[in-house]
Amino acid sequence: MIKFPNPDIIADAINSYGNAPSTDTLTKVLEAFSILMQEAAEVLIPVVEEDEQVSLLTLMNENNQTFVIGFTSEYQAKAAGYDTTISRRWTDYLSMILEIEGCAGLCVNPGDKFPFSIQKLMINALIAESEKEAFKNSISLFKGDITTLKVDCIVNAANNSLLGGGGVDGAIHAAAGPDLLAECRILQGCPTGQAKITNGYKLPAKYVIHTVGPIYNVNSEDPRHTQERTELGSCYRSCLELAKVFHIHSIAFPCISCGAYGYPLDEATKIAFIETVQWLNENPNYGMQVTFVCFNDEAYNVYETVINKAQNPDPDAPNFMTLFAGMAQGQAKN
Ligand code: APR
Repeated sequence: MIKFPNPDIIADAINSYGNAPSTDTLTKVLEAFSILMQEAAEVLIPVVEEDEQVSLLTLMNENNQTFVIGFTSEYQAKAAGYDTTISRRWTDYLSMILEIEGCAGLCVNPGDKFPFSIQKLMINALIAESEKEAFKNSISLFKGDITTLKVDCIVNAANNSLLGGGGVDGAIHAAAGPDLLAECRILQGCPTGQAKITNGYKLPAKYVIHTVGPIYNVNSEDPRHTQERTELGSCYRSCLELAKVFHIHSIAFPCISCGAYGYPLDEATKIAFIETVQWLNENPNYGMQVTFVCFNDEAYNVYETVINKAQNPDPDAPNFMTLFAGMAQGQAKN
């Protein structure tokens, strides 16, 4: 049965742990907490409001220990029958819990199939973990096969059917295994310039974001190829926006549309950069590590030229290069 990716990554990780308790699935729960704490995401806290007083609701476990409650989403709170909630940053709520006398810890999503209780000792560990090096925006280059990358997400240059093909599409489906196609079948295609997400299955990457680039029309009446430029730029932006919804912090792009779809590499590279750097500048604190993957020397050299020009902006260069200035630049690496 296909399990679609769930943007509520804590509930998703708790569910996986509940279904198959192990060190690995428990680690993924703690990683999900750490990601949301680093993003300064908020938890929903059920309260009772009386005479302008707001008090926390608590639960008692089978050992008569008292736990305060937190929900990872409105859906979880409503499903558990709690309508009145306030929201606070996870980090602030967890720090406050440590100060509550007689409270043993936090119960997450008590109405769900696998409620998850965190004792104060683990809360301390989570807070310490979240105070480590925060995610930083960066751009780097990689020459090789995108299917080998252990990143949160790789991007597939698909076609509108999402039912596989050649090129990077073929390579990703071959490496992910048949379950990827089974999930894609249910997505019912994807319009050009947009993006859809699936699991990564046998790939080292957790997710695949499928996007459909424009087919470059060499006979276009528009010498600026405005429509193709817009659609290609939209591919990169749609993928980054969708990645943020799923709390993805490392994403690898192939050279979308530069193979079978015939987009000139140097033009496509500039569009990829402009769109990506603008998005990173609009999300300065999100912390997205972007890798541009080049499958051959030609593509790598074109990308490297653009990176170098961006790092050493020529005063007469087009202003998009200055957009890149000041970015945390990953080095071009092999
Ligand atoms: N890893 C990284 N990059 C790759 C890989 C790989 N394993 N395989 C190919 N590439 C590169 C190509 O060299 C090219 O630079 O991906 C880029 C995109 O080429 P295509 O895969 O041909 O994608 P695109 O030009 O967007 O055409 C999409 O081709 O495969 C079909 O189903 C796909 O119909 C769609 C069309």
